Amino acid sequence: MQGLLTGKTAIITGSGRGIGAAAAQLFAAHGAQVVVSDLDLEPAKAVAEAIHQAGGAAITVAGDVTDRDFAQRIVDLTLAQFGGIDIIVNNAGYTWDGMLHSMSDEQWAAMLDVHLTAPFRLIRMAATYLRMTAKQEQSEHGMAQARKIINITSTSGVYGNTGQANYAAAKAGVVGLTKTLAKEWGRFNIQTNAVCYGFIDTRLTADKDAGATIERDGTEIRLGVPDHLRSAFAMLHPMGRPGSVDEAAGPLLFLASALSNYVNGAVLEVSGGFAP
Ligand SMILES: NC(=O)c1ccc[n+]([C@@H]2O[C@H](COP(=O)([O-])OP(=O)(O)OC[C@H]3O[C@@H](n4cnc5c(N)ncnc54)[C@H](O)[C@@H]3O)[C@@H](O)[C@H]2O)c1
Repeated sequence: MQGLLTGKTAIITGSGRGIGAAAAQLFAAHGAQVVVSDLDLEPAKAVAEAIHQAGGAAITVAGDVTDRDFAQRIVDLTLAQFGGIDIIVNNAGYTWDGMLHSMSDEQWAAMLDVHLTAPFRLIRMAATYLRMTAKQEQSEHGMAQARKIINITSTSGVYGNTGQANYAAAKAGVVGLTKTLAKEWGRFNIQTNAVCYGFIDTRLTADKDAGATIERDGTEIRLGVPDHLRSAFAMLHPMGRPGSVDEAAGPLLFLASALSNYVNGAVLEVSGGFAP
């Protein structure tokens, strides 16, 4: 099946790596023009280059989703380059784990900023374009084209997870944001849904000793999961393994395409059946 997103423009934050990168390439293969955005310019450029090599269309917008001017910048660049916005995937993020009794204010706020406030600001910034365009299409054609907001949440946000009070609270907030927007914007034919991942094989879930880090305001934060927890997880998991990034991207394509035009306010669990 090809061409599910022909002529559509998609912004995907955090698409230099992992799930976002797989989604960017899948969306482009289905005809979308993709705005590949990431904190790190080089991986984002590499994803955009792979899309170009495959004959697709993409631009790169580097930047931190928590910067105050990020939302304005990416919306303006997208409209200038592609003339519209049809799909927004709020995917950028990382983890900064710690037990609650020793969690700093900074650690708490950082997770709310990146996972909850940044998606809110991006959606709010796109609101003028999305609502005005829908109203115009409704008055001209009786109905607006379907447009899509997809927010990424986690089983940690739905079920909680030891050592992730900050991340879980932010991801639970994403569910509230999603369900509320679904009610506010359904009338504009904009479907807002969330995808709730369990354990997908990326830098975030790799062995912590592999040494991946992210630097935020001068603090180096170690990413990953301790190896003994990874092994325990595989034993408890109904499918006995984590999901791949391609398996994670498939449901995003469904929610970005016309196949999901009557799916609104849903939280789709993509966890291989694992409920912690
Ligand atoms: N991997 C999993 O098992 C899993 C499970 C549940 C939810 N998630 C969520 O999926 C999303 C993608 O994670 P992933 O597993 O692909 O991780 P990843 O580390 O492979 O990719 C995330 C990307 O987001 C970018 N990013 C991080 N902070 C950013 C910021 N402030 N501004 C801009 N870009 C930023 C990173 O540079 C990275 O390229 C995240 O929201 C994560 O919380 C992942």
